[in-house]
Amino acid sequence: MASKQKEINRRRFFRDGAAVAGAGLGALIVTSPSSLFSAVPPSDRITVGYIGAGARAQQIMDSMLLIPGVEITKLCDAYTGRVKRAIERCKGRPKAVNDYRQILEDKSIDAVVIGTPDHWHKKMAIDAVQAGKDVYIEKPLTYAVDEGLEIIEAVKANDRVFQVGSQGISSKAQRKARDVIASGKLGQITMIRAYFNRNTAGGAWIYPIPPNANRQTVNWGQFLGPAPKRAFSMPRFFRWRCYKDYSGGISTDLFVHLCTTIHFLMDAQAPTQVMGMGELYRWKTSRDVPDTINVSLKYKEGFMVNMSGTFNNTMTSGSGFQILGTEGSLEIGGGLTFHPETPMENDRWVVRSWATELETAYYADPKLIAYEQEAKAREAAAEPEVIMPRGEEDSTKAHLEHWFDCIRSRTNPEENAEVGHRACAVAHMVNMSIESGDSVYWDFDRQTVKRW
Ligand SMILES: NC(=O)c1ccc[n+]([C@@H]2O[C@H](COP(=O)([O-])OP(=O)(O)OC[C@H]3O[C@@H](n4cnc5c(N)ncnc54)[C@H](O)[C@@H]3O)[C@@H](O)[C@H]2O)c1
Repeated sequence: MASKQKEINRRRFFRDGAAVAGAGLGALIVTSPSSLFSAVPPSDRITVGYIGAGARAQQIMDSMLLIPGVEITKLCDAYTGRVKRAIERCKGRPKAVNDYRQILEDKSIDAVVIGTPDHWHKKMAIDAVQAGKDVYIEKPLTYAVDEGLEIIEAVKANDRVFQVGSQGISSKAQRKARDVIASGKLGQITMIRAYFNRNTAGGAWIYPIPPNANRQTVNWGQFLGPAPKRAFSMPRFFRWRCYKDYSGGISTDLFVHLCTTIHFLMDAQAPTQVMGMGELYRWKTSRDVPDTINVSLKYKEGFMVNMSGTFNNTMTSGSGFQILGTEGSLEIGGGLTFHPETPMENDRWVVRSWATELETAYYADPKLIAYEQEAKAREAAAEPEVIMPRGEEDSTKAHLEHWFDCIRSRTNPEENAEVGHRACAVAHMVNMSIESGDSVYWDFDRQTVKRW
């Protein structure tokens, strides 16, 4: 990267710029768009290594290649097909290495993207920050809840810029949603519905296995790493989300996105209490994790969440949120729509049981007549308000830009290790509740699951 003096100047620029614009990330984003770096001198380039070059890592690559001032110089993966394709994707520029430690040892690399399966995340994250690299790690941050605390400590001890990859919170729609909620437009919010629904084999993670995958092209030992030893299995390698040895299933793969967003929108840290139920109803021969989960989360900020996911129906398809307030509901799913509440008192079914003359007098009251006229007019006028139409925004690019801005300014990303830990902890709490049949509680002092 830049010389020490340049780095100091850049830090000062950002520190002062952020101070002028006021504290807070929103302000920082406004004052430091990546366009400021569009003419980045070679000495200011951020060099990036990829640890894992699988399906998601290659999506990240596509977005990263659009960002000026960044160079992908090295990558590694446990399947040769992915290495080949990733190098092609980057027009042949990065070099392939056999082991992620070779990327960490390379002093010319500033930052790494970790896109491996979840059971590797803790080890690679800690190794990377200890090697002095800034890190973009895919969600879920952890495979087990307390791993998050170790990662947080390592990030702090090594003073690294560390971002977790639930990119939704960098989208315009979610940032706008947060402003709408903060404005009070929805009234008192006591309930949120959040969901992730699918009904295909691919949606249920039964991905096609590349025809050239075999013991020569797949490094099975490298994939297993800290996971239990098992015989070579292509379904396990390419469909690892289906197995508890490598993944927490729907909770850690999908709910973690929902929780990251809910915490971001509601300025909340973690639920006090989590109760979940899960079952494997349909895809029984292909996995050991549930395909249907229903969860209740209770937050001390004064609201509850009803979170659900199924791989067996898409009547409410994809993923989305309904933020339910006394004055209206905000529907988030790509775009943003506000549905006003138009409640009207109507106690006819009760009042009709009174004495006739009392009922007649009740409805002759001019105040009630005026109220009902006004309420009906309000109801007739109420229309859903499209605050933001569904768009094709590249939220991954926005998330990466934020990470690069933070690397250059040495500031803490919005979805830092603490934020990633707490969102992922909810996913682990869901699984703990499913397994134990009990509620699971959060310990705000220790920032982990409460243990009695
Ligand atoms: N943010 C998102 O929207 C999003 C979407 C999809 C996946 N993800 C996350 O991205 C991560 C990867 O998921 P994926 O769908 O790309 O899986 P994938 O199986 O396609 O990719 C993982 C890659 O890691 C490689 N790998 C495994 N062990 C390795 C090791 N020791 N060294 C080097 N490479 C190794 C595998 O060969 C594989 O190519 C997961 O954590 C997942 O949850 C995030």
